[in-house]
Amino acid sequence: MSIIIAPSILAADFANLQRDIEMINNSEADWLHIDIMDGMFVPNISFGMPVMEAIQRHSKKPLDVHLMIEKPERFLSTFKDLGAFQITVHEECCPHLHRTIQQIKDLGCKAGVALNPHTNLNTLEYIIADLDLVCLMSVNPGFGGQKFIPLTYEKVSRLKELIVTRGSDCLIQVDGGVNEETGLKLVDRGADVLVAGSFVFNSSNPLQTISSLKKKLAELEQ
Ligand code: DX5
Ligand code: ZN
Repeated sequence: MSIIIAPSILAADFANLQRDIEMINNSEADWLHIDIMDGMFVPNISFGMPVMEAIQRHSKKPLDVHLMIEKPERFLSTFKDLGAFQITVHEECCPHLHRTIQQIKDLGCKAGVALNPHTNLNTLEYIIADLDLVCLMSVNPGFGGQKFIPLTYEKVSRLKELIVTRGSDCLIQVDGGVNEETGLKLVDRGADVLVAGSFVFNSSNPLQTISSLKKKLAELEQ
């Protein structure tokens, strides 16, 4: 399977949202990553439903929704209706994670769980077989443009082992500080999905940035 690139809309120019979404539509990106922040679980507020609705109206890429919000079960069906094909919740926000994952699946969406940098992988041992994706945060969630935390490399390798041991087919996503250098190393250790915000949107030619990352990743797979 080829590596999935998911540019994060958080790094787009919100005054030119339609332009930036159309740029992603015309790119080799696979998914569009949508960061929803509530100012409670994370120390920042990103955007809410009206912006998500505008994204849905223009995007031709599958919408990968990352909920950095407390009690995410309140809004699962709302985000499904706003076009999410996949919904990722934080383990740290879900005391009844098993139930929350079933709720996402019952809506017909793919279900993901995100882990903060300090959160132990063991917490996923009894749920990993039910998941479509694990998102390893390689920065503390809340802001784009932060520095990648190198311990994530080891975490990817260990998550891969857990997935194999438990016979799960879930994907490993890495989110935060991903660029070409970190991305290639992550894929080498088993990552399947790379989220990239500032690396893509702050580059002088985002289309070219995505295309060249795709090409380098394809070479790595050979
Ligand atoms: C961080 C978000 C990320 C962020 C990534 O809380 O979950 O998706 O947009 O941005 P970069 O790639 O700039 O670190
Ligand atoms: Zn994210």
